Amino acid sequence: MYKRGYYQGFGGAFLPEILTATFDQLESVFETAKSDPQFWSGYEKVMSTYSCRPTPLTFAENLTRHFGGARIYIKREDLNHTGAHKANNVMGQGLLVQRMGKTRVIAETGAGQHGVATATMAARFGFDCTIYMGAVDVERQRPNVFWMERLGATVVPVTNGTRILKDAINEAFRDWVSNMDSTHYVLGTACGPHPFPEMVTYFQSIIGQEARRQILTAEGRLPTRVYACVGGGSNAMGLFSGFLNDPVELVGVEAGGKGLDSGAHASRLCASDASVGVAQGYKTYFLQNSDGQMKETHSIAAGLDYVGVSPILSHFKETGKARFEASTDREVIEAVALTMRKEGLIPALESAHAFARAFKEAPQLSTEDVIIINQSGRGDKDIFTIADAFGDPAWKEFIIHKAEQYKQ
Ligand SMILES: Cc1ncc(COP(=O)(O)O)c(C=O)c1O
Repeated sequence: MYKRGYYQGFGGAFLPEILTATFDQLESVFETAKSDPQFWSGYEKVMSTYSCRPTPLTFAENLTRHFGGARIYIKREDLNHTGAHKANNVMGQGLLVQRMGKTRVIAETGAGQHGVATATMAARFGFDCTIYMGAVDVERQRPNVFWMERLGATVVPVTNGTRILKDAINEAFRDWVSNMDSTHYVLGTACGPHPFPEMVTYFQSIIGQEARRQILTAEGRLPTRVYACVGGGSNAMGLFSGFLNDPVELVGVEAGGKGLDSGAHASRLCASDASVGVAQGYKTYFLQNSDGQMKETHSIAAGLDYVGVSPILSHFKETGKARFEASTDREVIEAVALTMRKEGLIPALESAHAFARAFKEAPQLSTEDVIIINQSGRGDKDIFTIADAFGDPAWKEFIIHKAEQYKQ
């Protein structure tokens, strides 16, 4: 263990000795890149020519009228190439992999968005690519598995443990330990051992930097509050980064699942059954039992279904720098339905957690207030879950018909 990368008691790097040199190399390449002004401008150029940056900040006129309170703006990370904010981190780490001269990338994925983004980056930069994904997530995010494989990645379904994101992370670390010389592990969120929380936040900070500029142009003032969903914490850290020195309230929204008292949720920062521990190489709030064994988590959104959370956000919780809330599965489906009907936008189930909370609070604010919600991704990937939630009979019939065709 070495003691860099602490956020007042959270974070750190609890590593097997064999990985120390690899982490030292990563940290040194990252530090050099960060202090090179050409690196950030090169990164912005890649993101503007290959992805869709700057992503727009959309005024949600109909939702604003509907709630009659704060003016609601939506930061459109769904318009990134591959449909989510994950591209920001992945392309940035890809540039670091080029600097390190490595030829292979591996990643974990939950919703599949980070896996698709990594497979896309690997195809573009010419790296070999292996993606670890819990077998449960393979099942619920099948379209993304299809795309990862078509993009040239090997997708390994992880059948250990509870077969979700945390198990995929464990498997990716196992691979890395055996292949450090050729391989970089593209961790997908602001978690894990130092320097990942800082590095992922650095690349995702492009969201907040743009959003701050855009809201000042649109409204001539700062927002009252900004909302982002919290899985591992990368899109939240990205948006929050733009407003850290401003009088703006930062609101992170976790997966309340079937309710915080149900035991079926993935809320580490606002549920009473989470506690501080060390796992997967870092110290933070985890959903764990009194022996330190990880608990099962639940969320309608695969990308929020994780036991740990960014150590930086744990630090923000302790210091009151940000406020944390949870939205339930049911509230999330209602928020998706309303956003589609009122604005013609389809937020990912993950993002819809932030929408649901903002919708609760917007009517209590005045028409002078401005809020920004981060639409971290688009909901196309969630078609199976959303169709089930709406109980759409025509969709069900279509799937049954398709399955019958495959049987012939
Ligand atoms: C669209 C989308 N939003 C949010 C998340 C949660 O990740 P994070 O908290 O790192 O932003 C995911 C994770 O897969 C995602 O796909």
